[in-house]
Amino acid sequence: MTKALVLGATGHIGAHIARALLAEGHEVRAAYRDERYLHVLEGLPVERVRVDLDRPQELRRALEGREWVFHAAGYYPFPPKPRREAIEQGVSSTRRILAEIGRARPVRIVYTSSAATIRSVPGKEADESDLESWPLTEWRSLYTTVKIAMEQEALRAVQEGLPITITHPSICIGEYDAHLLSGRLLTAFAKHRLPWITRACFNVVYTGDVGVGHARAAERGRAGEHYILCGENISLKEFASCVALETGVPAPKWNLPYSLAYAAGLGAEAMAWLTRREPLFTRQEVRRVAGGYRLDGSKARRELGLTPTPIKEAIRKALVWFRAHGML
Ligand SMILES: NC(=O)c1ccc[n+]([C@@H]2O[C@H](COP(=O)([O-])OP(=O)(O)OC[C@H]3O[C@@H](n4cnc5c(N)ncnc54)[C@H](OP(=O)(O)O)[C@@H]3O)[C@@H](O)[C@H]2O)c1
Repeated sequence: MTKALVLGATGHIGAHIARALLAEGHEVRAAYRDERYLHVLEGLPVERVRVDLDRPQELRRALEGREWVFHAAGYYPFPPKPRREAIEQGVSSTRRILAEIGRARPVRIVYTSSAATIRSVPGKEADESDLESWPLTEWRSLYTTVKIAMEQEALRAVQEGLPITITHPSICIGEYDAHLLSGRLLTAFAKHRLPWITRACFNVVYTGDVGVGHARAAERGRAGEHYILCGENISLKEFASCVALETGVPAPKWNLPYSLAYAAGLGAEAMAWLTRREPLFTRQEVRRVAGGYRLDGSKARRELGLTPTPIKEAIRKALVWFRAHGML
């Protein structure tokens, strides 16, 4: 039994990491910030500790005696912020938090990055050898840019000797998405709020598999190693049809051409700026998935023993949870 600390345990991914660790017989200290989200940990035999990562003494206390540390509480650059400021905040917070974790000398640190930091490679399923490089040579969305910059900071910490393994989840669908980030597309279709689709392919993963991937990355991963945690490469049309099948809400009939979908991305970003909420999608996301964004998860299957859950099952589980929590 290993003593683990999960930062961001009330988050979508953190809640699944905590469950995967418990299922494998480990002891979990679950760090939360906002107690309104504690319901995602309901019934779990974990030690709950309040940690605001901007308060070093709270993090230091939570780290005491922990052998594995999972950092799934990464800075998220929303509400909209100036690009340079967001990059600086992401980089400086990652540096400060990883330094603090390093001082506690855990055996393994698992840092949750994102599949957004993996380049889209036309005609190929992108893998761990397709990491985005820094500084960027092409325009990327604010989220992607900040995630890449933060990951560079984690890699710098590896160079300094920290035993960090980096995970790259794709779009997570599953229970415990109380902050409703990656589930937005699902609920938008389920509420018939997105009346169109466009030609697009992307990767969707069951968050339960992402939780297991993190636990196994701590168990079997090596320092400086990257693991894409992904599921099925699926078209937007197939995704919308799966949601329609599960909800009975008809799938959108309109198929927008790329130029209009891109313009809609601009509209969604402008709306996000006005409402100070995260956009449902961005121009860069439209551009990336229009060309077909496909991922290769064979390394995690091979080295971490991950078996992807069918996406229909992930959608079903997420919908049940959203309904039970009044989010649909
Ligand atoms: N969901 C996806 O599809 C996906 C895919 C790839 C990568 N990722 C990455 O995975 C990480 C976790 O994502 P998620 O979907 O689980 O996000 P989430 O549901 O919003 O959860 C984030 C968690 O981190 C905590 N947190 C954030 N900032 C904090 C701070 N300064 N101090 C203490 N706690 C803090 C949040 O606490 P509060 O409740 O107080 O806000 C929450 O518990 C992020 O870095 C994200 O970019 C997510």
